[in-house]
Amino acid sequence: MDHQSAAPLPPHVLVFPLPFQGHVNSMLKLADLLCLGNLHVTMLVSEYSHSRLLRHTRVHSHFARYPGFCFRTIPDGLPEDHPRAGERIMEVFPSLVSVTGPLFREMMIDTDCLATQTRRPVTCIITEGVPSFAGDFAIERGIPLIYFRTASACSFWAYFCIPELTEADEIPLKGNGMDLLVKSVPGMEDFLRRRDLPSFCRVDEVNNESLQLIKIETRKTPRAHALIKNTFDELEGPVLSQIRAHCPNLFSIGPLHAHLKAKLAADPKFSSTHSSSFWEEDRSCVTWLDSQQSKSVVYVSFGSITIVTKDQLMEFWYGLVNCGHRFLWVMRPDCVVGKDVETQIPVELVEGTRERGYMVDWAPQEDVLAHPAVGGFLTHSGWNSILESIVSGVPMICWPYFADQMINSRFVSEVWKLGFDMKDTCDRVIIEKMIRDLMDVKKDEFQERANLMAKLAKRAVSEGGSSYCNLDRLIKYIKSMIE
Ligand code: UDX
Repeated sequence: MDHQSAAPLPPHVLVFPLPFQGHVNSMLKLADLLCLGNLHVTMLVSEYSHSRLLRHTRVHSHFARYPGFCFRTIPDGLPEDHPRAGERIMEVFPSLVSVTGPLFREMMIDTDCLATQTRRPVTCIITEGVPSFAGDFAIERGIPLIYFRTASACSFWAYFCIPELTEADEIPLKGNGMDLLVKSVPGMEDFLRRRDLPSFCRVDEVNNESLQLIKIETRKTPRAHALIKNTFDELEGPVLSQIRAHCPNLFSIGPLHAHLKAKLAADPKFSSTHSSSFWEEDRSCVTWLDSQQSKSVVYVSFGSITIVTKDQLMEFWYGLVNCGHRFLWVMRPDCVVGKDVETQIPVELVEGTRERGYMVDWAPQEDVLAHPAVGGFLTHSGWNSILESIVSGVPMICWPYFADQMINSRFVSEVWKLGFDMKDTCDRVIIEKMIRDLMDVKKDEFQERANLMAKLAKRAVSEGGSSYCNLDRLIKYIKSMIE
C-alpha cells in the first residue's frame, strides 16, 4: 500500500492493556477518548478478555459508532479455565512473555503493523510496560511508544524507587520492621511504612521473580516518548512532580471514567457511557438501593482479582451484620477459596443479611457508588475502585489485597484522609468498629473531605481543568507524531 497517498488518514494508535478487568476498563476508556479526539484506534485485548466483554457487555455496539475503531484479539497463553485471580494471578506474566510476546511480534510483522486500506500502519503504541515485549517492539521499529501504567501514581513511584529501596536495605521486607518508616521513596518519608509498600516488596529474596520483573520494567519507563496516568494533579500532584523528574512528558488525564462521561455528555451524538464488565452486572441492586435512605448503605466489593479464605469471609460477614448498617455486598462467584461455603453459614448471618443486606455476583459499580443511598465503601483499594469512590464522594475503608493496593490504602487514610486503612487485619470487631466510625461517629468529617475531593475530580475533567487540558495536549501530541 502506498502510505504517502494515505496522508490525510488520522494517526493510528494501538492500545494494548494487560488482560485484567481493572486494566481493560481504564484502557477502554482511554480508547474511547482517543476516538472522540478523531484518532484511529486498534484495541488489542486477550481472547479471554474479549470473550468476557462479548458475553456481558454491549461494548461492541458502543464502539461501532466510531468508524476508526476496531478490536483485535491475542491469546494470553493460559487455558480457558485458569482462574486468572488470587494467588495464581502472577502466572499470567510468564505466559504473556512466552506465548503472547512472540504472537504479538508475528501479528505486527505479518500485517505491516495493522495497516489496511483505510488505516495507516500503527503510528503509536500505548501499552502498560509490564511485560515489556510491546515496548521492545515499538523501540526496535521506531514506532512512538507511550506507557499507560493504569494504577496510581503513588504506586508507580514506589515501584520506580525499588533500586533505591534495595540499596538502602529497606527491601526485601522479609516481614521485619513493618511499621518502620521508609526513607527511600522521596516525598513519602513522613508517612509511608514498610507495610504500605506494594506487595511485591513483601518477599524474602531480592531475586524474587515478581520483584525483579516490576523493578526492571518500571525503570525502563523513561525510554517511552510519554507516560499516561489515570489520576489528576489535585489528587497526586506531589507524586507526579517526583515522577516528572524522570519522565517529563507525563500526562495525568484521570479520573478516566469521569472524563469520558463528561465528554460523552457534552456531545449530543453520544448519550451514554458503557460497561466493560467481565461478569454479568446485576442491576437489581440498584432497585434495592432506590428503597434505602440517603447515605445509609455500606457498599462492599473487593474487585476482580481478590480471593478470600472462608475465615476472612466470616469475619467480614459478622462485622457487616453486627455493625447494624445496611450493606450491599458483591460476592464474585470465584471470590472464596473452596466451594462449600453456603452450607456453613450461621443462622444469625443469614437472618442479618435478610434484614439488612443485599448480595450480588457483580454490580454496576460506577452506578452503585454514584447512588445517593451509598454512604461508605469497603474496598480492596484497587485503583479504579478508589477513583470511582472519589468521584462519587464516598468515604472508604480499605482492605488491600495485593500489588498497588497496599500503598493506595495508605494514601486514602493518611494523605487524602478519605477513610480508614485496615491492612493486615481481618477481624469482625475491627470491621464493625471501622464501619460505625465511618458511617456514624466521623461521618461528617469524612463526608466533607470526600465532597471536596469529588468536586476537584469533576473540575479536573471539565473544560479548562487539569486533566481536560492534559488530554487535549496528549491528542495533539499523538497527532504531531505523524507530521
Ligand atoms: C487490578 C488490581 O487489583 C488493582 O489494584 C489495580 O489498581 C488495577 O488492577 P481490580 O482488582 O480489578 O484491579 O480492581 P479495580 O482497579 O478497582 O478495578 C475493578 C473494576 O471493576 C472497577 O472499575 C469497578 O467499577 C469494576 N467492578 C467491580 C464492577 O463493575 N462491578 C463490581 O461488582 C466490582
